Order: sequence, then structure tokens, then C-alpha cells
Amino acid sequence: MSNQHYQIDQRYHDGIAGQYDHVVVRPRGFPIELLFERFDTLFCGRQRMLDLGCGTGHMLLRFARQFRAAMGVDHSQGMLARAAENLSAVGIDNAILVQADLLQFVQQQSRSQFDLITCVGVLHHLQVPDIAALLSALRSRLSPGGRILLAEPITGATEPPAISAWNRQALGGTRDFVGEFPQDPDEAPLEESAWRQAIAGAGLVSVAENRMWECSTSEEFPNTAEREALRQLIAAHPGGNILALLLGAA
Ligand SMILES: C[S@@+](CC[C@H](N)C(=O)[O-])C[C@H]1O[C@@H](n2cnc3c(N)ncnc32)[C@H](O)[C@@H]1O
Repeated sequence: MSNQHYQIDQRYHDGIAGQYDHVVVRPRGFPIELLFERFDTLFCGRQRMLDLGCGTGHMLLRFARQFRAAMGVDHSQGMLARAAENLSAVGIDNAILVQADLLQFVQQQSRSQFDLITCVGVLHHLQVPDIAALLSALRSRLSPGGRILLAEPITGATEPPAISAWNRQALGGTRDFVGEFPQDPDEAPLEESAWRQAIAGAGLVSVAENRMWECSTSEEFPNTAEREALRQLIAAHPGGNILALLLGAA
């Protein structure tokens, strides 16, 4: 996948890598914990984890400790450098980071199997035919009982005013990238039914799923009162524009 689309994506992520955690990851730490709540009780094996499009190491930071060995793959050297710093800062020493195109990597690793494959916030950066190709390749990389964790923005949902109001005063509404960056990749939310068709076509089924409105908090580590307020807000507004799917082999 070394075409122009992926070269633009790679250069863009190299450019934003230094600010990515501040602007994107840390404001959403607690909401994403809610999005994935209890998913890890449905992981089966605990030997090997693979994180595709690992960025600054977000999923490895969440889950790598639950596995004997973990691997993160990303085409952006800038993002991988941040991931290495983040993992080292919290003492995670069982994760290898690899710079590669993720589809080529998965297709070449034809003998490797994984108990958990995470690919979060990445599919909507891929060209549409590559999504189906990737899901099929992932199906054959799963250990018996293995799981795939995906989460992506989806089209078609209108954010309720209460969620918009919350987000305006939270970190996601106040932090933005500062400076000049390489060309923005042409990313867009996924169309849910096409995504589900690609999943079924790859021989995968949903084991658990959760949907919620993209939101952030007013502190990187919100206090108990804010955590409870956000739980209640989300419970009061079912639906959402972010869909998380935990998949297994059909
Ligand atoms: C929005 S970030 C998500 C990062 C991380 N998964 C997270 O949850 O924060 C998307 C990442 O996918 C990587 N990426 C996009 N297309 C890729 C490809 N074809 N091969 C490898 N990495 C890719 C980008 O470099 C970027 O780090």
C-alpha cells in the first residue's frame, strides 16, 4: 500500500505525532475506557497481542500488560517514536514496535497468530477496498478463540445538543493542533452497513459491541464527580458516532 494516499497519511502523522497525545488521546482517556468497558473480560488467550496503526501506543498502554508479548505496527516513524517513549515511561517492556504498512505486514506474517488484534481509529484512514482485504487477512491471523477489537467513527448520527454542550467546555473542544502540518489525509467516518458487510464477508462475527458519542473530559484524569456525570450523560443519550466492535471468527 505504498501509494500516494498512504504516503500522505504517513507524512501527516509524522507531522502531528508530537501533539497527538495532548490533543487527541489524553482528553479522551476516560470516555474510551467507557467505550471498551468489560471487553477485556471477553479476551480468550493471553499470549500475543498485535496493535495495527498503533500510533503513540494508546492500545498497547491499555492492554499490553495482559499479554505475554505485544507488537505495535505503524507506518509513521514519528508516531512510533512517541509510542516507544510512552511505553517506556510506564515500564511496559513486552512490546515490540515495527515501522510497516499494516496490510503488507499482516499479509507477510502468514505464520503468526494473535490472541488479540486491535485496530482502533485506523480503518477510516484506509482506502475502501483495503478494509475488506485487511479484515480477511486478520481473520487468518487469529489464534483459536482470538479476538479483534475495532473502533471507528461512523456516519449518519446527529450529536444531541447536550453532548455538544458538554464537549464545548471539555478538553476536546479547547485543544487543537498548533502550527503548520503536512497535507491532511482525506479521512471520513465509516458507513456502518458497508463496514458490517466487510466484517461478515471476512468470516468474522461480533462478540460484543458498544456505541457512544465522541466526547472528552475537562481534565486528563477527571475526578469521581466528572466521571459519574459523564456516565450519566452517556446513559441518557444512547446511540453515538463511535462504534466499538469486539469480533471473533464465525
Ligand atoms: C488516528 S491514529 C490512531 C492511533 C491509535 N490506534 C490510537 O488509538 O490512538 C491512526 C494511525 O494509523 C496509522 N496508519 C494509517 N494507515 C496506515 C497504514 N496503511 N499502515 C500503517 N499505519 C497506518 C497512522 O500513522 C496513525 O498512527
